[in-house]
Amino acid sequence: MRYLLVLLTTILMLSLTACSDEVNTNTTNDTPLPSSSASSVSASAGKALFNQKLIDIQPGCITCHSLEKGVKLVGPSLAGIGKRAGTTVEGQPAEEFLRNAIIKPDDYVSEGFSAGQMPERIANVLTQEQADSLVLYLLTLQ
Ligand code: HEC
Repeated sequence: MRYLLVLLTTILMLSLTACSDEVNTNTTNDTPLPSSSASSVSASAGKALFNQKLIDIQPGCITCHSLEKGVKLVGPSLAGIGKRAGTTVEGQPAEEFLRNAIIKPDDYVSEGFSAGQMPERIANVLTQEQADSLVLYLLTLQ
């Protein structure tokens, strides 16, 4: 009888642990991912990132790109980039052009500049969400 009781208690405890494990897994699967990625991709997050002097340990976008028309720093002015992005490379819609310009800068090199000037390694430190936010922000620069 005593043996049975111990056995029952053990089974009860095991099933409780299993239950709470299940609950935990569900929370980690459901909660953080969709909500955090949805809320972290935005033009305003992109704007903040664009204006950071450093991204990780590298110079940020604003160090090389002015937002004033015609002002060349290390790179071209990005004034109006949202408007011309869709017509710069044939067959590339604005979003795709901008994403490439950030993560594969040497695929298309802006007129008057040469390959290798925009650091390709920036892509290595940007998360997907950050790159998406930058694209959204650049699209607002009409
Ligand atoms: C060290 C300087 C430097 C930094 C930092 C830099 N860029 Fe650039 N960028 C350039 C240069 C130079 C070019 C032109 C050559 C080319 O197209 O690769 C360029 C080109 C571009 C273009 C294409 C512009 C056009 O008119 O065709 C975009 C868009 C762009 N950069 C966005 C960014 C963003 C967003 C960041 C930050 C994540 C950034 N750049 C960081 C130097 C830089």
